[in-house]
Amino acid sequence: MRTSTFNIHGFTNNDEILSSNGHLIARKFFSSENASSYDKTVRLATFYKDSLWKKEMVALLGGKNKLILDLACGTGILSSYIRQKSAQSRIVGTDLTFEYLKHAKSRQKYLLLTNSLAEFLPYKNDSFDVILSSYLAKYSNISAMVKEHWRVLRKGGTVIFHDFTYPHFKIMKILWHAYFRILNQFGKVIPSWRDVFSNLDKVIQRNQWVNSLLKELDLTGFSLISKKYCTCGTAAIVWAIKE
Ligand SMILES: C[S@@+](CC[C@H](N)C(=O)[O-])C[C@H]1O[C@@H](n2cnc3c(N)ncnc32)[C@H](O)[C@@H]1O
Repeated sequence: MRTSTFNIHGFTNNDEILSSNGHLIARKFFSSENASSYDKTVRLATFYKDSLWKKEMVALLGGKNKLILDLACGTGILSSYIRQKSAQSRIVGTDLTFEYLKHAKSRQKYLLLTNSLAEFLPYKNDSFDVILSSYLAKYSNISAMVKEHWRVLRKGGTVIFHDFTYPHFKIMKILWHAYFRILNQFGKVIPSWRDVFSNLDKVIQRNQWVNSLLKELDLTGFSLISKKYCTCGTAAIVWAIKE
């Protein structure tokens, strides 16, 4: 059965949005309508696990005084954790949603904020010591994105990715689907989040970002590629080095 969800934004049904490119899905999900409620929504919708996952990413940062790219920085939550861990680091933020960048800008000082795609970065070769992204992988073209990471990362630099995953174990799958059924109901009464709450489960379930990313990092030449599943397999962190 095809259900109508995206008609107010130009999409006629869920199938249409779900067959779109990742960044087109992101363009429909994130806008001026929900930028101001994003921080609260991500905290509540992840039962406050979002901050734990982000702190785990930041723990992988290593030394101080680095040039760090927070890719798909959104409203700048991850950047604020980076700043807490390493006040001397210089942070550059990039995101495709202009309204989210405005919130990031008001949150803290960035060396630079750019409104661009992860697959076409407006930076010189060998610029950054670290590139991190939270909730970007499932919306990205993994192959193009990893090539850009390789190009703009300095030798010895680290890449760190985090996003939701579809759990492996049966009991978690049952709980996961029950959770998204409830989220879907919330979407009916919160119009600014309706598109996300009705489709995020399908985007996550269809997306095999961890395996694609591991393969692409290896093909591109990254070393010490590692992965960690978090919170019963509902999210994962992947990291690697450009040696
Ligand atoms: C769920 S938000 C996450 C924001 C932030 N990283 C955080 O963890 O709070 C996803 C963000 O990814 C951005 N995004 C999605 N696809 C992108 C792409 N291909 N290039 C750049 N930004 C992208 C969206 O605009 C949105 O701000």
